[in-house]
Amino acid sequence: MGKLYRRTMKKRYVLLAAEIDGRIVGAVEAFHRFIICYINRLAVHPKHQGKGIGSDLLIEICKRLKTRKARFVILCMNPRSDRPKDLIKFYRRHRFKAIGIIFIKRL
Ligand SMILES: CC(C)(COP(=O)(O)OP(=O)(O)OC[C@H]1O[C@@H](n2cnc3c(N)ncnc32)[C@H](O)[C@@H]1OP(=O)(O)O)[C@@H](O)C(=O)NCCC(=O)NCCS
Repeated sequence: MGKLYRRTMKKRYVLLAAEIDGRIVGAVEAFHRFIICYINRLAVHPKHQGKGIGSDLLIEICKRLKTRKARFVILCMNPRSDRPKDLIKFYRRHRFKAIGIIFIKRL
């Protein structure tokens, strides 16, 4: 990977982790380009789910992305979630709107 590419990617990348007693129990990562950003991953350790950690991570990353001039945040719901309805509820509670289906093709 070229140095310039690495530097550009670093500038566009945000990673936050939540810690309890020195252990990482949750994390979220995002990339942004101009006013659009994409939350790539959000996960909380199963033992610590339902305690507000996922919400805190989501709120904090959105705040930081906004300071980087991002205006829209996109994410894809985990298609393998065993609790899809709860996941939809979670994102709706954070004022995300479902805008349809995303298509993907292996190249
Ligand atoms: C979705 C997730 C990040 C939420 O984090 P969290 O710390 O549990 O969330 P909070 O405590 O802030 O909010 C609780 C809400 O999250 C949702 N939630 C909690 N655990 C969940 C799970 N295992 N699967 C789906 N949704 C879940 C519910 O809507 C819950 O609301 P309720 O308590 O009224 O039922 C976390 O549950 C998780 O890591 N799930 C597995 C990975 C995943 O699906 N990530 C999302 C990728 S799109």
